[in-house]
Amino acid sequence: MNIAVPKETASGETRVALTPPIVSLLTSDGFSVAVQEGAGMQAAFTDADYKQAGATVVAGAEELWRNANVVLKVQKPTVDEIGMMASGTTLISFLWALSDPELVEHLREAGVTAVGMDALPRISRAQTMDALSAMSSIAGYKSVLLGANALGKYLPMLVTAAGTIPPARVLVLGAGVAGLQAIATARRLGAIVEAFDVRPAVKEQVESLGATFIDIPTGEEDTETSGGYARELKEETRRRQQEVLREHVRKSDLVITTALVPGKPAPKLISEDMVGDMNAGSVIVDLAAEQGGNCELTRPGEDRFTDNGVIIRGPLNIPAAMPVHASQLYARTIHTLLRHLIKDGQIHLDFEDEITRQAVITHDGRVSSPLLLNTKP
Ligand code: NAI
Repeated sequence: MNIAVPKETASGETRVALTPPIVSLLTSDGFSVAVQEGAGMQAAFTDADYKQAGATVVAGAEELWRNANVVLKVQKPTVDEIGMMASGTTLISFLWALSDPELVEHLREAGVTAVGMDALPRISRAQTMDALSAMSSIAGYKSVLLGANALGKYLPMLVTAAGTIPPARVLVLGAGVAGLQAIATARRLGAIVEAFDVRPAVKEQVESLGATFIDIPTGEEDTETSGGYARELKEETRRRQQEVLREHVRKSDLVITTALVPGKPAPKLISEDMVGDMNAGSVIVDLAAEQGGNCELTRPGEDRFTDNGVIIRGPLNIPAAMPVHASQLYARTIHTLLRHLIKDGQIHLDFEDEITRQAVITHDGRVSSPLLLNTKP
């Protein structure tokens, strides 16, 4: 079986799907691995490292894609890339199929078996394949550094000969994987941290990291899905929540927002007038920028400076800003998934298995994802 790792073509993407140590594991299992020239360079993995791990380094994209039985990627493929795959090829990458029906149609038409790294069920058995969590954790860590960099203040308390500096106040909205990592990072840097999430179950996790949980009873019984995700709140609940958060936002030096509801635009937690109440020099890092942002004023991909001196950062694709560890973790998750899909040296799809059933988006000229077919996963 020929496994191919192309150079990512999306603008700003620095990650690579396999690292040399994972290539080594695959080649010693008898697979042949081809890596496109320069594919790992931006993540600090050289062509020589891949060769040493047993891979063939291929100069042209066309040759690489055409000869592959399995293509491993980070970002979803372009139409041109799909066109280079022979029918029956397996492609594993992030696909975000729900929000890109055209891509799904291209994959189906091309007869590609497309597996979405973002479509895996969040069950214990799939934890070691959970690329979303691995990437969210990086985003959470980095968000604090992006915030600290824009803040004209120390995060920790400092007692110096020139006077005492009080610790910065950090507020984290949304305490999922990214939010919890942001809390832990801000705490490690010595800030006073508060956090809020609609899922009451996270209170204990927030507190165990040394942060204060802001309790806002939603009045809604069910804020969490059976899969552990948040549900969209009613407009009235969201407004009540905003009123409580207003004071916490106002007194924070750094606000990190990470709130997401699968399949919906990011909930707006910080209104324009809440930003208007903040102190000059305060910073908001909006990790939900890619989904429209948690703050009304966020401009995805930009830093915005408001008239009252607040800096709003809307970073995109944060894991690409930390490509070494992002690629290392991504490669491990994709390798674990690949092993799950392989039997006797070949891709063998068992649709009775929950992981396979949910992760496979197209197969054999059909759309097979229960998410897209609206059937029970
Ligand atoms: P996510 O990225 O979809 O959302 C981030 C956070 O935003 C969530 O904690 C959500 O509750 C919160 N949120 C949504 N609307 C909000 C609002 N209006 N106000 C405040 N907060 C709001 O979620 P993520 O981080 O991908 O994971 C969420 C949960 O999924 C985890 O905490 C866990 O329970 C579960 N999970 C399970 C895994 C497993 O068992 N393999 C792996 C990863 C996550």
